[in-house]
Amino acid sequence: MNDVAKARAGAVMELTLDRPEKKNALTSAMYSALIDALDEAERDDTIAAVLISGTGGVFSAGNDIADFAAAVLRGEDIVAGDFVKRIAAFAKPLVAAVDGLAVGVGCTMLLHCDLIYAAPSARFSLPFVDLGLLPEAGSSLLLPRRVGMARASAWLLLTETFGAEEARDAGLVNALVPSESLLAHAREKARALAAKPRAALLEARRFLRGDSKDILARIDAETAAFEEALKTPHAQAALAAFLNKSR
Ligand code: COA
Repeated sequence: MNDVAKARAGAVMELTLDRPEKKNALTSAMYSALIDALDEAERDDTIAAVLISGTGGVFSAGNDIADFAAAVLRGEDIVAGDFVKRIAAFAKPLVAAVDGLAVGVGCTMLLHCDLIYAAPSARFSLPFVDLGLLPEAGSSLLLPRRVGMARASAWLLLTETFGAEEARDAGLVNALVPSESLLAHAREKARALAAKPRAALLEARRFLRGDSKDILARIDAETAAFEEALKTPHAQAALAAFLNKSR
């Protein structure tokens, strides 16, 4: 389904970003597929948790820049914004298995996950400012909350990339697991969550994550600023440079 594979393993829904030839960069069709899958997972009482991973030794290279630029030119709504709001408001536990690259929204979506496991070779990058763009998906609120202002500033303002060990030491990632056993490990943790008393699990998660209204309001504010930033010459030039390079 649209480069997003959906499977079910007991009470766990598994969503796999499956566009390895483009480093699992996320198109509008993929965002829509993810939104539909999260809607289904939330509605379906037999699903207790969702596991997200990527194929081809990559988690995701972030927003598909070509698809995104085409949507902007056509004046279409940016589906990425709908996806981040959907995942931010999702009411069941989310587990992520990160092998390889997690760039842009491939990294910020992790802030909405409850448990994150990463291969030692995983690399994270938040290049928004270099592209003349701004942090999204609530990351300007959630990242400093999760890893502290010092690291959040180095990652979001200096746009320093960071590895799996740093991500674990900072408290973004739960544990490092060798690539070959990463998915099995994440599955086991998702299954363990799914085996907990459901109502207590969901309530505990709700309290842990805090008021989603604050997060959704921040996402709206970030989106408005992002859309303004997108019109600037710097952002236009950065997107054009990437598009010309890939042609
Ligand atoms: N959007 C669209 N296409 C992307 C992409 C993205 N975000 N990331 C990678 N791709 C495509 C490349 O254009 C290339 O396509 P091609 O084979 O048709 O030319 C293919 O995926 C493989 O990528 P490539 O750059 O050759 O792999 P790499 O291992 O050398 O580098 C990245 C991988 C992710 C470091 C690099 O592709 C990159 O910097 N991508 C942009 C990431 C980004 O800025 N994302 C945030 C956007 S807000």
